[in-house]
Parts: sequence; C-alpha cells; structure tokens
Amino acid sequence: MEQQGTDAAAARRMATLASHLSPASSHPQMEEASLLRGSNCRAKGAAPGFKVAILGAAGGIGQPLALLMKMNPLVSVLHLYDVVNTPGVTADISHMNTGAVVRGFLGQPQLENALTGMDLVIIPAGVPRKPGMTRDDLFNINAGIVRTLCEGIAKCCPKAIVNVISNPVNSTVPIAAEVFKKAGTYDPKRLLGVTTLDVVRANTFVGEVLGLDPREVNVPVIGGHAGVTILPLLSQVNPACSFTPEEVNHLTSRIQNGGTEVVEAKAGAGSATLSMAYAAAKFADACLRGLRGDAGIVECSYVASQVTELPFFASKVRLGRSGVEEILPLGPLNEFERTGLEKAKKELSASIQKGVSFINK
Ligand SMILES: NC(=O)c1ccc[n+]([C@@H]2O[C@H](COP(=O)([O-])OP(=O)(O)OC[C@H]3O[C@@H](n4cnc5c(N)ncnc54)[C@H](O)[C@@H]3O)[C@@H](O)[C@H]2O)c1
Repeated sequence: MEQQGTDAAAARRMATLASHLSPASSHPQMEEASLLRGSNCRAKGAAPGFKVAILGAAGGIGQPLALLMKMNPLVSVLHLYDVVNTPGVTADISHMNTGAVVRGFLGQPQLENALTGMDLVIIPAGVPRKPGMTRDDLFNINAGIVRTLCEGIAKCCPKAIVNVISNPVNSTVPIAAEVFKKAGTYDPKRLLGVTTLDVVRANTFVGEVLGLDPREVNVPVIGGHAGVTILPLLSQVNPACSFTPEEVNHLTSRIQNGGTEVVEAKAGAGSATLSMAYAAAKFADACLRGLRGDAGIVECSYVASQVTELPFFASKVRLGRSGVEEILPLGPLNEFERTGLEKAKKELSASIQKGVSFINK
C-alpha cells in the first residue's frame, strides 16, 4: 500500500519534470489551463508574479525576448507560442534557474491554451523586412497573422495588456483594435504598439553625439513606427541640451532609418532582433510594473489617442494598473518638429486607414 503511494508520487514528480517537453494539449497542466475561462484572467496587479505569453516566440525577436522575460522577476508563468520550433526553445529556456515557469505551445490548435489566463501578451509574430522593403511591404502577411492572434486574445484573455511588435505597427495596432471591437472586448487602454526601439536608438545616438551615457539620456519619440512617422523631439531631450541644425538633421535621419541600417547590414537575414528584444523586454517590464501599481511609469507607445486628430498616435503615456492611464501632451515643438509632425500625420493617417479597412472590407 505504502509502496503504491510512493510509486504514484514518484510518477507524478516524473510527469512534472517532463511536462514542458511535450506541449500537447493532453497533458495535465494544459487540461487545467483549458478549464480556466477568459473571465478568470488576472490583470489586477495586486501581487507580483504575472502571466506573460509571447506569440512568435521561436523567431529572431521571440527567442531573445523569451530569454529576457524568463529573467524578469515579475513574471511567474511564461507561455511561448509559435507555429514552429517551440518545443526546442521551451526546453532550452526552461533550464534557466529563474522563477518563471515556462510552457511551450505549438501551432494554431494550441493557441487558446497558450493565451488562457494571461496578464500580458507580447506579439512579435510575422515576417521581417529584407533590404529594399518598407515596413508597409509586410502588410499582407502580417495583417492576417495579427488578426488571428488577436481573435484568440479576445476569446481567451480579453483583459490582458497587449504589446504589438509585428510590423507595420502603424497598421497592425488599428487592426488589433478592430478585431477587439468586433468581439466586443476593445479597451484602448490595454492595446499598445511597441515603439520603444525608436526611443532606445534615439537615446543611444544622442548619447554618442553628446558624449553621455545613453542610460542617462531620454529622448521622446512621437508619431508612429516607420520612416518619417518616427519623430524624435530633440528639443525635449533630458538632460536639457542643444544641437546645431546639422546635428538635428543627422540625428533625426539616423533615428528614422535605424531599422533600415540593421536590415541592410543583415543583408537579407532579417531586421533588428537583439536590440528589439531588449526594447520589447524593457517595455513589457514597464507594463508589468504599471500593473503592479508602481507610480510614475512613463514610456512612449503607439496607442489610441486624442493628442492629434488621428485615432492612433505614439507619445509619452503613463502606465498603471489598467494599462494606459494617461496620455501626456506633446509639449512645445519647434518649427522643424512641427513640419515633421505634418509629414508624419499624412503617412500615419493612410496606414491607420489601411489597417481599419483590412478588417472591415
Ligand atoms: N516594433 C518594432 O520596433 C519592430 C522591430 C523589429 C522587427 N519588428 C517586427 O517584428 C516581427 C518579427 O520579426 P522577427 O525578426 O522576429 O521575424 P522572424 O521571422 O525571425 O520571427 C517571426 C516568428 O513569427 C512566427 N510566426 C509566423 N506566423 C505566426 C503565427 N500565425 N502565429 C505565431 N507565430 C507565427 C514565425 O514562425 C517566426 O518564428 C516582424 O514583423 C518585424 O517587422 C518590429
């Protein structure tokens, strides 16, 4: 009798040890997960230990992002979803001796289990640029991917904060909003386009010009996340500083074309992945600290907004328990920035419309 109990306990321990290797929906953790309902999603932030899903976790961004989120002490459960290779990535990441429990999910039939109960969903799924392509050239493939993933979010974790990385962000965020509106779950405070890489680049390049530690530099970047829609506000750099007109031209152009610099250097092997994973992990950490109730969390993000006449715009936002709690004003712009803003708005408006039409066609 006693021996039987010991054997059963040992078998249970063995099953636990091996559970991450087979993400099939038949194993006990998955069955338990599938019993959870969307309404049980916890996004209150009362206690540390959030549940985070990465969709596109086996990709160039997804893998290093999974590594960084596994290292984040605010994460208690990390779900890695992709249409390829998640068992390997999950086995690998799960060996890290940090707190988060990692589970892998492979392919569309496992999407719902990957999403159920999540507090934060990060989406780097989709194809990246090759030399000569604009972010908009990715629209046809990535729009459909983002739609499918957001339909899953609306069904399984409608209260989760959603961080959209897949390009063209200027259109994929409006696409996500339309999917959520159709499902009746849209909360503009919980849908955020990730433009952190533009800020990370701006801080680095401005730090280089000023001879400052880039960690001490803060450059607001507004507008959107493509070409001229990326508008660094060099008149509002913290610490306060001034630039010559040549420096302003050089810095603005380098920040706007930072992504293309990487695409060309990678020569067909993709776009920014490592700096992007760093930026996405930094932004996700800010969202989690907001959910936890930390005060004074301000980041730039592309969100539903009234700071201009456009329905979506990137600017500084204050993050809190319910996601975007406040959209901060743009502050005083100089003439160069006002001209840049008009150009940005023209392109942004078309990209937003393209995203909205994709869902409502
Ligand atoms: N927001 C930004 O600042 C920024 C910066 C760089 C790249 N990006 C974008 O991020 C995206 C990913 O880039 P990457 O370099 O990691 O590409 P990648 O091709 O290396 O990885 C993409 C991953 O998405 C997966 N995927 C494809 N369809 C999927 C689906 N339906 N469900 C789940 N996963 C799916 C792929 O299997 C792959 O593993 C691209 O759209 C790229 O343009 C955004």
